[in-house]
Amino acid sequence: MPQTLITHRRTRSEQWYQRAQELLIEGVNSPSRGSSVFSPAPVVLERGRGTQVWDLDGNQYTDFMMSFGALIHGHAHPAIVKAASEALAQGSHFASSTPAELAAAERFCRMVPSAEAVRFCNTGTEATMLALRLARAHTGRNKLLKFEGHYHGWYDPYLLNAHSHPPGKLGTPQAPARIPDSAGIPARVFDDVVLAPWNDFEQLERVMGEHGDSLAAAITEPIMANMGCIPPREGYLQKLRELTSRHGVLLILDEVVTGFRYAPGGCQELFGITPDLSTFGKALGAGFPIGAVAGPRSLLEALRWGDNMVLHYGTFNGHRMTMQVVAASLELLEAHRGAAFRRLQATGDAAIAGLRQVFARHGTAAVVQGFGPMFQVYFTERDAIRDYRDYCAYADKAKYARFVHALLERGIYMSPSNGLHWIISTAHGESDVAALLSAADSACSALQ
Ligand SMILES: Cc1ncc(COP(=O)(O)O)c(C=O)c1O
Repeated sequence: MPQTLITHRRTRSEQWYQRAQELLIEGVNSPSRGSSVFSPAPVVLERGRGTQVWDLDGNQYTDFMMSFGALIHGHAHPAIVKAASEALAQGSHFASSTPAELAAAERFCRMVPSAEAVRFCNTGTEATMLALRLARAHTGRNKLLKFEGHYHGWYDPYLLNAHSHPPGKLGTPQAPARIPDSAGIPARVFDDVVLAPWNDFEQLERVMGEHGDSLAAAITEPIMANMGCIPPREGYLQKLRELTSRHGVLLILDEVVTGFRYAPGGCQELFGITPDLSTFGKALGAGFPIGAVAGPRSLLEALRWGDNMVLHYGTFNGHRMTMQVVAASLELLEAHRGAAFRRLQATGDAAIAGLRQVFARHGTAAVVQGFGPMFQVYFTERDAIRDYRDYCAYADKAKYARFVHALLERGIYMSPSNGLHWIISTAHGESDVAALLSAADSACSALQ
């Protein structure tokens, strides 16, 4: 086993964070990076290369968060640096038609099975916003089926039960308590949202029976990635596809996390599902802001200018530099008949198997859930965390945060939030897995 890397004081990080808080709320630009998660203060990162990042105090970490999954090729991959630098040198963005956006679209549509056409935007949130608007325009219906614990970005109608809460507050699976995640959203927005537990066949049948004919869309993450990592039960996504088709409801597969990570065509390829619309972000941009909505031409044609069009503007849509990066990144992913995906899978599976052994050796009650490039650790006496309700009731989030803080002190960079998940990039390999297992072993001893 390699030597565990002990990180030293974070004095400069702490000082910097104090200053940042004078101008930036919580010292950051998104609460998932601030002190509420990284209590008492986040690690302030300065540079990265491959799988390694360095903080302001010069501490070095192996990164398993990878910008919440955006960095599919790790930090500063030479091909990505080249594509971005060349684009930048010629002019970062023209907001015009460019060869770069066609190069990105051609690769994208070749890889994603349901993509006859694609519309690029700037974030996953923009993509899910647009998908819902397209679905409403197409069906002439307003309602949306949204599942408990799924996160689809911060657009108003999606912000219902995307955070965890004490089990006593959740209501029953038949009548889930509806808990908005944000102030400032008019209550009437949620009148159009039907909320249901996920991974629950019985509740799915019930909800589709009651509301199916008035739903414009059902949106789902194919693997639940915002309560850790929760795969779908065998046949669940197929059932959802069957019932949505039966009721004329568009199925939006939110592949913002899973896309360009699990397979060339994401989870729709992996699970053999044909969504009506699918949304992408994160890994697609290899570290640059991106979102995309894909689907059949018949649906995306609604974006064409004219009467009854679906409006979607955006100064930065199809950003030239990002499009060149996307094309370069997808080229890397497609090379050698998708060898990158096999590597992602093998590296992730090795990390998962290794962590399971570490916990077993220490007699720690924990499950390591997921497969391949995405997984999460839950400290629990249960044999699995199968849905939002399990996550709220049975995952010891405080213990997980202590575990991750112990890892941060041992040279592993990860978010202490149990709701996130571990990310493998194409840059990760055996030595990174070995570093993780060594640090986890030492962290387990320290926690006991
Ligand atoms: C499944 C899913 N959809 C959509 C989004 C929103 O993406 P973005 O943060 O790029 O707006 C996220 C972000 O974490 C996500 O996990």
